[in-house]
Amino acid sequence: MVRQDLSLPAASRILVVGLGLIGGSLAAALRAAGVGQDDNSVILACDPNQDEIQRGIEMGLVDAGATCLSEVVEGATLIVLAVPVLAMRTVMQELSRYLPQLAERAVITDVGSTKAAVRDIAIEAFGSLPPRLVLGHPIAGSEKSGVAASDAELYQSHKVILTPCANTEADALQRVSAMWQLAGAEVLSMDVERHDQVLARTSHLPHLLAFSLVDTLARQDERLEIFRYAAGGFRDFTRIAGSDPVMWRDVFTANREAVLDALDDFELGLKRLRQAVTHGDGDDMLATFDRARHARHYFESLLNQTSYQAEYQMQDNNSLRYRVAPGGSVSGRIRVPGDKSISHRSIMLGALSEGVTEVTGFLEGEDSLATLQAFREMGVAIEGPHQGRVVIHGVGMHGLQQPSGPLYVGNAGTAMRLFAGLLAGQAFDTELTGDTSLTRRPMGRVADPLREMGAVVETAEGGRPPLRIKGGQPLRGLDYDMPMASAQVKSCLLLAGMYAAGETRVREPAPTRDHTERMLNGFGYRVEREGDTCWLQGGGKLTAAPIDVPSDISSATFFLVAAAITPGSDLVLEHVGLNPTRIGVINILKAMGADLRMENSREVGGEPVADLHIRYAPLKGIEIPTDQVPLAIDEFPALFIAAANAEGVTRLRGAEELRVKESDRLQSMADGMTILGIENTLFDDGIDIVGKGGEAPNYGGGRVQSHEDHRIAMAFTIAGLRASAPIEVDDCANVATSFPGFVELARRVGLSLDEVREELE
Ligand code: S3P
Repeated sequence: MVRQDLSLPAASRILVVGLGLIGGSLAAALRAAGVGQDDNSVILACDPNQDEIQRGIEMGLVDAGATCLSEVVEGATLIVLAVPVLAMRTVMQELSRYLPQLAERAVITDVGSTKAAVRDIAIEAFGSLPPRLVLGHPIAGSEKSGVAASDAELYQSHKVILTPCANTEADALQRVSAMWQLAGAEVLSMDVERHDQVLARTSHLPHLLAFSLVDTLARQDERLEIFRYAAGGFRDFTRIAGSDPVMWRDVFTANREAVLDALDDFELGLKRLRQAVTHGDGDDMLATFDRARHARHYFESLLNQTSYQAEYQMQDNNSLRYRVAPGGSVSGRIRVPGDKSISHRSIMLGALSEGVTEVTGFLEGEDSLATLQAFREMGVAIEGPHQGRVVIHGVGMHGLQQPSGPLYVGNAGTAMRLFAGLLAGQAFDTELTGDTSLTRRPMGRVADPLREMGAVVETAEGGRPPLRIKGGQPLRGLDYDMPMASAQVKSCLLLAGMYAAGETRVREPAPTRDHTERMLNGFGYRVEREGDTCWLQGGGKLTAAPIDVPSDISSATFFLVAAAITPGSDLVLEHVGLNPTRIGVINILKAMGADLRMENSREVGGEPVADLHIRYAPLKGIEIPTDQVPLAIDEFPALFIAAANAEGVTRLRGAEELRVKESDRLQSMADGMTILGIENTLFDDGIDIVGKGGEAPNYGGGRVQSHEDHRIAMAFTIAGLRASAPIEVDDCANVATSFPGFVELARRVGLSLDEVREELE
């Protein structure tokens, strides 16, 4: 939520009803934020316990208080009901009698942990829901209770969920929101029912389990001997069993239905695990624990906002910008992360295999991690990733289980399109969703031929995601002429073809990356090729095979270009995958005059690999041969920066596919280059770029957009080496989708690169 006016009206009369931990901490936080110092405001308390009030006054939290509402309610402008949920009824009934004594336009809010019950109590007590009552719930607390435990920091960086109803007045909502923001909280809004369902799972259920576990153990050991031996695991799991029993009795009474639903799901999960333990089913246990571990890490990174997805979800008020200072040269020996295309496929084929597949060099970027997570959600046990090592316990061609919800593949077009083929052959229904960038990308190119095979695939309007795939459909082989050169479409159809009756043949208008064919053969599934066509027979099986993923030539490209354009550079990129369908960038850079050599050439797991040694040499503009376009399709953003530093015009045509990548890459690059003063002319299927050559800076600095596209972000980052002033690139969190550690490597080879994180207004 965007930050609003962070002040309360002067001379506010804030009344906290219920001076316990929650009410007391709010008073403390407001005090710490200056309320009641120079603004003529007062903070009052009402609590049945005179001692608590006295303590609150002594601690300086409240100015005065009373045990009876009638004594403190006069002229109140903001009333916070901070009592347990079931005490709300008495408090609200009493308050309803004093409404005329409140200040005009007074606002009432509460802090109850369940919202539907409080809403219903309010309707009963006031006759209807007061439009100036704003229901709220701070997601903060402590196992301690009482005003003495008050903590002015309790809400700092915690979330407060407000659940306005249809008739809630906007300015009342704004006032409550401002109060919580003053207390340091982040304010979110959600409807009452959703709040109760979410909290039943994330808060109420864990409390129930903690209470239950401690009680069960305590009963089994009357003298509580057992706790002497309890270690950290017990302490971590049961800390919340020390919470206030009255409050929690009220929560479970008030949110009964949602808690029971959550408990049902939990009991099912526990039953499954019990079975796995009973039968010594290690794979099943591993699948559950790995899924849980991964989800827990994801939660952690959401909290720390370190993941792209987390950044992405927070992007309303958060942004990561790169700032590159010009100058320096690029040198050293580095190894960039593993190949994205091969990483995706290693998980997919490993999961469908019989046996255990060990992958090394796996790309721990968010795209391939999304694929990995999707298979966990379909019941596949996957160990790791740990420093690029992943172990996949294959379930065979028909061993996947239906996931419990949609499979979210983030930014990954490859995952969505390959999954479409693979899932079309399963017995169960699935839904594939992704982030906003992916939601704009065309999926008709896979949905249409899959339908010809007999699959039932629904897309959103215009053939866009999400994809809904109906399971249990008999598929038949297809003879398909691809209208575009796409390895993703080809791979999708080959994967579906494994589940189809008869032969599936795919003809490509130009050679595209052939990792799927190579890897299927490596896993013992025969794929044949003749000229521009490859084919396989349905009904085969995959046998686990080890995979050593080479470094991604697409990631290496940013550093190849960085060295190629910067005088004095001398860089070695180790262990780069040089599959002949991926080396367009090498051919193009060499044609431009780059000093680029392959060293230590070898073959690893069926893929050619070498170290790439590049030194600065003056580049010249060229007409890019159209047969190189599909072979360099992901490398153009970086190549455009090479062109901007070459002498003369570089001309690209036949590259309309660039318009449907993570962004419209022709447009995104043209926009950014224009900002930097690089002369360019855009065409439907390409671009002309005019470079000045020479060793002086070739363009200016400025602030450019990544358009939610990792490769645009990295391309403009390396452009900074040769600019006359700093270049800033907005929205760079997406770099984590394909190139974790980019910033560190860039700095290591000599770029002056800073990361700027800022909150947007
Ligand atoms: C990929 C194929 C290419 C490429 C993408 C990865 C793959 O997409 O751009 O980054 O792994 O199959 P298209 O098939 O859409 O050309």
